[in-house]
Amino acid sequence: DMKVNICVSKYGAIFLLLTVFVLIFILRNMDDLKVRTLSSTIFTQRVSTNTSMHQAVCTYQPLSTEDAVEASLLLDSIAWPETPPSPAPVSLEQTSDPAHSTFTVLPRKGGGQWHVGDQLEVMIKIYDFKGSPRKSGGDFLIARLHNRKLSAGVAGQVVDHLNGSYSAVFSLLWEGDAQVEVTLVHPSEAITVLRRLNQEKPDRIYFQSVFRSGSQSETTTCNVCLPPTQQPLCNYTDLHTGEPWFCYKPKKLSCNARITHAMGGHKLNFTTEENRLFQNNINLKVSIQASGPASVTVLPEKTGQSEVKNSIVKSGPSGYYYQGVWQSLGGTTVRQFNTSSDITQCLKGKVVHVYGDSTIRQWFEYLHTALPDLKEFNLHSQKQGGPFMVLDHANNIMLTFRCHSTPLRISPFPTRELRYIANELDNLVGGANTVVAFTIWAHFGNYPMEFYIRRLQNIRRAVVRLLDAAPDTRVIIRTGNPKALSHFVAVTNSDWYSLQNDKVLRAMFKGLNVHLVDAWEMVLAHHLPHNLHPQPPIIKNMIDVLLTYICPQKGS
Ligand SMILES: *[C@@H]1O[C@H](CO)[C@@H](O)[C@H](O)[C@H]1NC(C)=O
Ligand SMILES: *[C@@H]1O[C@H](CO)[C@@H](O)[C@H](O)[C@H]1NC(C)=O
Ligand SMILES: *[C@@H]1O[C@H](CO)[C@@H](O)[C@H](O)[C@H]1NC(C)=O
Ligand SMILES: *[C@@H]1O[C@H](CO)[C@@H](O)[C@H](O)[C@H]1NC(C)=O
Ligand SMILES: *[C@@H]1O[C@H](CO)[C@@H](O)[C@H](O)[C@H]1NC(C)=O
Repeated sequence: DMKVNICVSKYGAIFLLLTVFVLIFILRNMDDLKVRTLSSTIFTQRVSTNTSMHQAVCTYQPLSTEDAVEASLLLDSIAWPETPPSPAPVSLEQTSDPAHSTFTVLPRKGGGQWHVGDQLEVMIKIYDFKGSPRKSGGDFLIARLHNRKLSAGVAGQVVDHLNGSYSAVFSLLWEGDAQVEVTLVHPSEAITVLRRLNQEKPDRIYFQSVFRSGSQSETTTCNVCLPPTQQPLCNYTDLHTGEPWFCYKPKKLSCNARITHAMGGHKLNFTTEENRLFQNNINLKVSIQASGPASVTVLPEKTGQSEVKNSIVKSGPSGYYYQGVWQSLGGTTVRQFNTSSDITQCLKGKVVHVYGDSTIRQWFEYLHTALPDLKEFNLHSQKQGGPFMVLDHANNIMLTFRCHSTPLRISPFPTRELRYIANELDNLVGGANTVVAFTIWAHFGNYPMEFYIRRLQNIRRAVVRLLDAAPDTRVIIRTGNPKALSHFVAVTNSDWYSLQNDKVLRAMFKGLNVHLVDAWEMVLAHHLPHNLHPQPPIIKNMIDVLLTYICPQKGS
């Protein structure tokens, strides 16, 4: 009997194991099946009218355990140094003051003169408004090395020593003068405020939807996360991606009556002390002066030093400007597409889909303007968000633009045209003649990072599916870029937020067959002022990088 029992339990265990395997198999295939059926049907958003729900709705939670693990690793990897606690009483006098701070160009290691291929190091010392040295880190600094006459420039890497001093490291990439520029973007106390705002006040930018039915119309507030009130909610969470979105339910109309999405406005309620941490010309993106000479003279590369240069290049900047032209350091030679026929030749027979915000719409507009044969097919779309389509019949070129859906800060936009990038990618066939270019960053500044991570995880899954189905599809991602910072822009969309997002974006798509256009460095290294929408000479360089990825130089 005992023997039989053991036998049965042994077989039982094997049977159980088999069942589990079969179940896993079925579940996996169901997932595939779900994706396939979903992408072949029209998406309808599920609408919940459950009126018993009154708590805050903050679905920043990851979709799966794997996603959660990745999210926490990513958050660790972008951890910013500790900054002074808040809401400690902050006296401006004790915060970082760019006017009192200085930088010093350190002598060349091993002595002698500077050569192309060397690394230049600068020591930055931060002082407060009373002139006392700061003892802790966490300030946000950026650095650039440039030569205005040569239209040359390269971004520096800033290292925080956590004791009030910082290093900026530059690769010397051209002969002639090279001038150092160091900028304090935010004092560490401002970072404390920025961090807290995204945890506590992600709805400081809010949205509105108009609901309409017959002659009745109502407007309510919408967001990723709504503060608790007595009002019931409409749940517009996307079924395919799980991307959350909510509006307060209109009093009379149903959730299905939502017709537009728009930026509502902003709610900023700062104390005087907090406001003083974000002042133009005082402590918001202000240059730091050199304590001695700010420039060096660089001699030609020493023979036999190119290996040194290559090793610098691997961990250093992604490129630099020379004669106003972006030179990539990643091994690709950036081609120049100076004439419309150069561009047409590259795009002949191709479909280029552009998705994202206004910063990538600039690419669409640049190409549309540069190619006289690209004619707009008028879809009578909303002016900012599209969708737009331009066609060159003779050369069989199609170029489209579509915005990235919520949380888009936009004037009233039809909800029927809102599409998540991941869902759009799932509806593409792809292939050697298909180019996908997207960006997603400028509307995410005011949310906890978890929300951005989740969005990118969804997009990446769709990119992986697309590349599995059609490996020849070219996927190109534009990163975020530094911009002009007013007080308002700083507290809702600071470069600090963009930088943190950027690090996540790069980590997220690492190792995939996608290409990055490093808008961050391309704006940072350029002499033109930082701008949310970079000026044409910078866009031209981005387009050259984009087209180089689509049509690489023969033999490379
Ligand atoms: C509404 O939500 C509550 C709380 O989550 C739940 O208990 C209830 O069953 C829901 N009602 C409907 C009709 O879905
Ligand atoms: C801060 O740390 C750096 C790197 O360890 C060191 O070189 C520098 O002397 C320190 N500065 C101060 C003021 O302690
Ligand atoms: C909103 O809808 C999604 C998708 O159906 C669901 O998973 C989520 O729990 C809902 N959220 C709330 C707060 O009702
Ligand atoms: C603004 O902040 C003050 C002090 O922190 C607080 O008492 C007040 O309720 C806030 N107002 C709003 C509209 O949030
Ligand atoms: C494109 O224009 C730039 C800037 O005017 C010039 O330096 C470069 O030689 C041109 N390249 C080609 C291939 O025409």
